[in-house]
Amino acid sequence: MILNTELEYKGNLFPSKIISYKKDIDTLYFTSENNVVLQLTIERDSVLRFRYSTTGIFDTDFSYAISQFANKGFNHLEITENDTNYIITTSKLICHISKLDMRKSIYDAKDSSLICEDELGFHWEESYEFGGDIVKMSLKSQQSENYYGLGDKPVENNLKGKRFQNWVTDSYAFDRGTDPIYKAIPFYTALHHAKSYGIFFDNSFRSYFDFCHERRNITSFWAQGGEMNYYFMYGPDMTEVVSNYTDLTGRPQHIPPLWALGYHQCKWSYYPESKVKDIAAKFRELKIPCDALYLDIDYMEGFRCFTWSKEHFPNPKKMVKELANDGFKTIVIIDPGIKIDKEYTVFKEGLENDFFCKRADGPYMKGKVWPGECYFPDFTNPKVRDWWSNLFKELIEDIGVNGVWNDMNEPAVMDVPGKSFPNDVRHNYDGNHCSHRKAHNIYGMQMARATYHGLKKFSYPKRPFVITRAAYSGTQRYTSTWTGDNVATWDHLSIANQQAQRMCMSGFSFAGSDIGGFAEQPNGELFARWIQLGVFHPFCRVHSSGDHGDQEPWVFGSSITAIVRKFIEIRYQLLPYLYTTFWRYVGEGIPILKSLVLFDQEDPHTHYRNDEFIFGEKILVCPIIEPNAKGRRMYIPRGRWYNFWDNTIEIGGEEKWVDADIDSMPIFIKEGAIIPKYPIQQYVGEKVIEQLELDVYFKMGKESSEVYEDAHDGYDYKKGRYSLRNFNQVGKNNSLTIQQFKSGKYATSYATFKINVHGLPFKISSVEVDNEKIDITKLNGDVTFIIPKEFRELYIIGK
Ligand code: GLC
Repeated sequence: MILNTELEYKGNLFPSKIISYKKDIDTLYFTSENNVVLQLTIERDSVLRFRYSTTGIFDTDFSYAISQFANKGFNHLEITENDTNYIITTSKLICHISKLDMRKSIYDAKDSSLICEDELGFHWEESYEFGGDIVKMSLKSQQSENYYGLGDKPVENNLKGKRFQNWVTDSYAFDRGTDPIYKAIPFYTALHHAKSYGIFFDNSFRSYFDFCHERRNITSFWAQGGEMNYYFMYGPDMTEVVSNYTDLTGRPQHIPPLWALGYHQCKWSYYPESKVKDIAAKFRELKIPCDALYLDIDYMEGFRCFTWSKEHFPNPKKMVKELANDGFKTIVIIDPGIKIDKEYTVFKEGLENDFFCKRADGPYMKGKVWPGECYFPDFTNPKVRDWWSNLFKELIEDIGVNGVWNDMNEPAVMDVPGKSFPNDVRHNYDGNHCSHRKAHNIYGMQMARATYHGLKKFSYPKRPFVITRAAYSGTQRYTSTWTGDNVATWDHLSIANQQAQRMCMSGFSFAGSDIGGFAEQPNGELFARWIQLGVFHPFCRVHSSGDHGDQEPWVFGSSITAIVRKFIEIRYQLLPYLYTTFWRYVGEGIPILKSLVLFDQEDPHTHYRNDEFIFGEKILVCPIIEPNAKGRRMYIPRGRWYNFWDNTIEIGGEEKWVDADIDSMPIFIKEGAIIPKYPIQQYVGEKVIEQLELDVYFKMGKESSEVYEDAHDGYDYKKGRYSLRNFNQVGKNNSLTIQQFKSGKYATSYATFKINVHGLPFKISSVEVDNEKIDITKLNGDVTFIIPKEFRELYIIGK
């Protein structure tokens, strides 16, 4: 009879008992009798790194994911031992390493509760095919433990019961549950007993995660090569876990320029030039705000990167300039495949310098993409990245293009099994030469990195803008992203919602979907509902494959156009709010969208919610994801919320029906919030902001809000030229006080705030600004007044 346990152990090798232990500053080495070494590094009090070698020797310690700016250091470290365990104690965690079998268990240092515990722990199988090991880890799933994260997986928020693969894959018209798709982000957050921790498995080989799918109470992860090398990050707050992860893998190196948070319009493809101009003109004519237009592959000469079609774009510099005069930024696509063509400079340079990827025995890696047969730069070679980044000089500096869109960088190869390079392709991997098995998942990331550095250099003193399709952990440092080739269906609208939330939870907040769907065509209702969702995504772009009809805001009839305009206008009004959340994301790694579980992990009702999310800190949004809806049921999280449309109050903590006809959607504002708003502009910078509106939502008690501003582009903010306003609101039975604390050296263009107060529970008898009464005789019902922006205290007194 074969017992389960025998199957589990089949082919697997395990560490035996620990025979020696050594400490080197922040790193401990435990060696087993069978020569397994566990290298345990105390990165921070709440972050531990576990790395295992099965031979006693470690690979060179190199990772594309880990940021050079990751914080290191701890407040407390104590190592003791008893008969059975080594015990490592930091100010946040207690970690036991079993002397018998190297298994670990981790406890909260505050209350000694169990957080995470090995089942089989580290084990491995030797890989006869490739050498090295298939490295594995299994953990016990704790009671009611749930799992979130993993990048772009097109499934429900909660990953429990499912198995996934991390292998960056071109996935045209992917579907709910397709796995893997474009991104490999081997990081998840687990939650049980209201406490949360994260695991980042920093291994770029094809890897797998199993969340109680194969075995009901076991979570495991493994990779087809490389080392078992993972980081354990403790919260106990989920936000803290994600923030720890982005501390480790990096945050964007700067806030995006404000225009990048505007509305973007894309299609495969807008050409010739006259078509691009028509589109631009139509936006302005119909007064639909828009900041960026995209040129897909047809702008090039025969799909050769860094060239322009002479026929369709005879004078790109002039066109880009004219678009800029009308407030449009131009963004162009650049793919990795370089056409094999001896007359083509980029190809010639790549060949002369030996910059293209090669197969194991020496021939070039040849593959078919849009231009036909191509060679592919090895972006894992620093010299290649440098060369690539310099290729952008003309596009950016001379022609004036404002952003670059990296696509097909999985790398996608047409008409071959696996849709990518074969395993034997060789890569430089920054001097750690390896095969494509190891480099595949990071290839697109390194392309985006090289592109980013080029744009950064040539856009200076402006901030660069890059968008990528493929990504590995850490790619968020360089670029924004979108979720790839989705489909114009209602289910895809819901998938887009999930994916954007999941990307934010996975440390990569600057993300959005192809609004309206890439493949096939939405009807007006679906398009309008998708716009409603899309304006609340950090990245907001309509894109479509173009062969199924048009997808501009005006093609579905005037009533849909009006709805689309209305929602894009809301996004433009909320730009200072969104910019502030970006500032928080860039500075602290706080996700821009918060799934309800991330917003209130202590409420078990949130653990399986999918549709509702918090946009920034204070705005609750729930898209309508079905046709013919007049509203929907949704879960309103705990607390008091104002309906955005009519300021009625909802008490959260339960599911409720919310009306939302086609021109509306459920939006709620957290009580106590102060939401900053700009006037509607047709593009960022169209108007000088002469007044900042502050929508104040009364709360009985205290709440704080903030508004971050700067020049909206450039780097001066890094030298202190920013304006940060912290508002503390205190609401009482018959008074409301708002105090403002201002920091930073940036002088905003406006002199006054227009304050709109919602939900005051009393009639106003007087209003004082910095102890001076202001004239309120003109108040007529709606409580709106204008006060100087430098006020310190606003005091509204009831009758
Ligand atoms: C890929 C991209 C898509 C783009 C198309 C043509 O399918 O995902 O966004 O439009 O290639 O470049």
